[in-house]
Amino acid sequence: MTSSLTSHASSRSCLAVVLAAGEGTRMKSDKPKVLHAIANRSMLGHVLASVTAAGADQVAVVIGPDRDDVAKDARRHFADAQIFVQTERLGTGHAVLSAKDALARKPDDVIVVYADTPLVSVETLAQLRAPLAAGAAVVSLGFEARDPTGYGRLILSGDQLLDIREHKDASEAERQIRLCNGGLMALRGDVALSLLEKIDNKNAKSEFYLTDAVAIARSLGHKAVAVTVPEEEVHGVNDRMQLAQAEAMIQQRLRERAMAGGATLVAPETVFFSYDTKLGRDVVVEPNVVFGPEVTVEDGAVVHSFSHLEGTRVGAGAGIGPFARLRPGAEIGQKAKIGNFVEIKNTQLGTGAKVSHLTYLGDATVGADVNIGAGAITCNYDGFSKYRTEIGDGAFIGSNSSLVAPIRIGAGAFVGSGSVVTENVPADALALGRGRQVTKEEWARNFRIKSQAAKSK
Ligand code: UD1
Ligand code: MG
Repeated sequence: MTSSLTSHASSRSCLAVVLAAGEGTRMKSDKPKVLHAIANRSMLGHVLASVTAAGADQVAVVIGPDRDDVAKDARRHFADAQIFVQTERLGTGHAVLSAKDALARKPDDVIVVYADTPLVSVETLAQLRAPLAAGAAVVSLGFEARDPTGYGRLILSGDQLLDIREHKDASEAERQIRLCNGGLMALRGDVALSLLEKIDNKNAKSEFYLTDAVAIARSLGHKAVAVTVPEEEVHGVNDRMQLAQAEAMIQQRLRERAMAGGATLVAPETVFFSYDTKLGRDVVVEPNVVFGPEVTVEDGAVVHSFSHLEGTRVGAGAGIGPFARLRPGAEIGQKAKIGNFVEIKNTQLGTGAKVSHLTYLGDATVGADVNIGAGAITCNYDGFSKYRTEIGDGAFIGSNSSLVAPIRIGAGAFVGSGSVVTENVPADALALGRGRQVTKEEWARNFRIKSQAAKSK
């Protein structure tokens, strides 16, 4: 969307340690969990975008063994991402320590995030970092859990965080605490590594708990605090149901962002966005529209119901649909009109052009004010290669014509309805590529009389 994310970059350097080693067995997928997409971007991609917008200038991604696909996706979203492999899953503290080399460079701030917790917002990450600048050594992210079972509990005294107790290690009294650990943590870079190296695995799970950094920091006289956020922010994805819930929450945010940016969504809950959809001012999106990746809709354009757009730019004031399919490389000129059951791929359409019904345009350049009649088709593919169709400004393509590419229709030319056009048409010419009409006077009447007579015999 056009409104850009608020940048929370400060002068302090910040390392984000992204835990992306999750196996995701409950996803029952051939794909690693963190590569599953929400609004067309991997969960890992969402988290990397958020930490970058929150001011992380270094990123360390901790992945499982043999996960080149995860490393590649990480670098796609953050080119200089440092990749660390956690060879054995020995706990969250151990996972963060896998990025020891990055921690040893002592950035001002360290934030630890989970790649399977994709809803954490830039604002939350900024809140998590803020107490570090005021001297805190450890900041944890707390939330009031609807059902606290399984989560670590935050043990507070006033505004001081004393400890985090994992569910399995907690006493009955501690299990009554509803303020839970969201998992994300910020640590002051000058002490982070030494705190993490003091974590042991003497606990119910025999794991190295990242959460132990809190009590260790306090035992060394440092300050630890918690910031509290809504549960939604720390929604983790472990199965396909939770993936769908995360999708719903991100769609909700994208809808709100579109409307805040000045677009009208007639029925927001029926419009599906991609993370990168850009809508201008006074764009109207009718019910039941799907935006795939890389779509820009400029000011004042209308997207009518049941349209599907991807890889497309829609010019200002254009009208799309209902029931239009715009595929990658569609560039719709200003005030152009695309009507129902029209499919457009890799085609540039000039200002004011009209393609009102039942048409396929592929690999074409269409000039300004061209009118394409119902049922016209570019024949762009011969089973081996794709060929271009060029239509000059102001040309008129009659209904149900087939334009066999490669082909050029000159500016202002006419193509008669039902033509199969295989030769270039000069500017301002008329092309007819169809059988000449034969009319036989009285033929139908005679046919009926003869047929009736034969039947009544
Ligand atoms: C963790 C927290 C708990 C918190 C909860 C929130 C600890 C000890 N506990 O518990 O306080 O309430 O998250 O969801 O930190 N991971 C690795 N390598 C490992 C272990 C984990 O990369 O060896 C990653 C996981 O893939 C996941 C994240 O760290 O992304 C959290 O691990 P998980 O096992 O889900 O921790 P919880 O037991 O849920
Ligand atoms: Mg968990």
